[in-house]
Amino acid sequence: MATNRCVPPAQSSAGGSGLVRSGMEALRSCGAASTSALLAHRRGPALRLRRGECTAVRCAAAPETAATTRVKRNENFGKLQAGYLFPEIARRRREHEAKYPDKQIISLGIGDTTEPIPSFISDAMAKAAAGLGTREGYSGYGAEQGRPDLREAIAKAFYPGLRKADEIFVSDGAKCDAGRLQMMFGVDRTVAVQDPSYPVYVDTTVIQGSTGNYNPASEGFDGIEYMLCNADNGFFPDLSKVPPTDLIFFCSPNNPTGAAATRQQLQELVDFAKRNGSIIVYDAAYALYCEEPDCPKTIYEIPGADEVALEVNSFSKYAGFTGVRLGWTVVPDALRFSDGTPVKTDFNRIMTTCFNGASSIAQAGALACLEPEGYSQMMNVISFYKENAAILRKTFIDMGFSVYGGINSPYVWVGFPGQKSWDVFADILEKCHIVTTPGSGFGPGGEGFVRASAFSTRENVNEAVSRFQAVFGSS
Ligand SMILES: Cc1ncc(COP(=O)(O)O)c(C=O)c1O
Repeated sequence: MATNRCVPPAQSSAGGSGLVRSGMEALRSCGAASTSALLAHRRGPALRLRRGECTAVRCAAAPETAATTRVKRNENFGKLQAGYLFPEIARRRREHEAKYPDKQIISLGIGDTTEPIPSFISDAMAKAAAGLGTREGYSGYGAEQGRPDLREAIAKAFYPGLRKADEIFVSDGAKCDAGRLQMMFGVDRTVAVQDPSYPVYVDTTVIQGSTGNYNPASEGFDGIEYMLCNADNGFFPDLSKVPPTDLIFFCSPNNPTGAAATRQQLQELVDFAKRNGSIIVYDAAYALYCEEPDCPKTIYEIPGADEVALEVNSFSKYAGFTGVRLGWTVVPDALRFSDGTPVKTDFNRIMTTCFNGASSIAQAGALACLEPEGYSQMMNVISFYKENAAILRKTFIDMGFSVYGGINSPYVWVGFPGQKSWDVFADILEKCHIVTTPGSGFGPGGEGFVRASAFSTRENVNEAVSRFQAVFGSS
């Protein structure tokens, strides 16, 4: 039982600086606040007391009442559900490990790469790192937009004849860019997302304050348009049912469903955006996994897309750069806000204000990825993961499940109709000791599915297949 016995700060466990920051609540909870201390608090932004000046505010109750600041929490964080999906999966995995310390858990969950970075690329980074230790090779801050030669190389490799180097902004990754984009667009805009979709689009929109609360009835956030993508519509939304919004987040090949939009579908999307004056934030982080010729590798293959779309992309899933961190965003000159301001002007401002340029070592690695030898080695890594995806896809098909994705994408989307995704996730973890990702974590439209990621060693994929077959093979 806590008491309100006030003690000198030096005896308190709440810090030893001798300076005390206090709030009204702390003062009141002591029940011993002096009038002068209360007045001092009202007068100033923070009450600073020297050691021993007013012992009344340091209470023996402190261990039970965490110290607070006067800063109000961004209330939008309170709207988010059960933390970000992947930390929640990691938490459940830890619980499982504690329960079964002898079992080897296989992760087909988070979608983190496992294969070493190809030697041509890692050598280039090693050389760049060693160069930093020499006077001739040292460099400090680079351009916030990225090395000019890398911007050129990205434009040439990914957007030949479609985009110019000065429309490419090199960054520390597609996820980081998705977050920074939110800051650029500000609070007051409406958003549509594919349902299911990569959670970052929804969660950053919520944190930004552009949504209402989570609505348990719809299992989504009020104010976000969830564009259902399921087997019935070929995983492409029925746009005739989607109200106009300012922004449309669209990912193809899609995480989590693995579906890649066709040229005709993307033309529909671009036309839809044009009619409504929307901006598409196109996430092409898996573009190089796309093998079907009718599925564009960039939105800019679609005529008119430069007036309605920006695109994010990344080396994370191509060259194993998940830890190295190197991505980019394309902002075409033709993309404008309603007042005619080029979006590129404001994105440039965001990057120069909030970002100080990608790591010089990572940029050297990216340049190596785009040299002929590096590109070929990088494509070998992608082929390896695609083979994993094919193995997983075939396994589930052979066991009689409804299976999608896994052809133009490293993700296999497996249906468990009538079941809750988190229950299936828990069942697979319990019986197979395999971590997957519950489909509902990607939005209400993902309910009844789990996602299996092909980012794994071949040994683990083969072992996972044996375990799946043993548990679900006869069901
Ligand atoms: C669709 C999509 N976009 C972006 C990212 C993150 O990319 P990066 O590692 O470049 O931040 C991921 C990672 O899983 C993803 O699935």
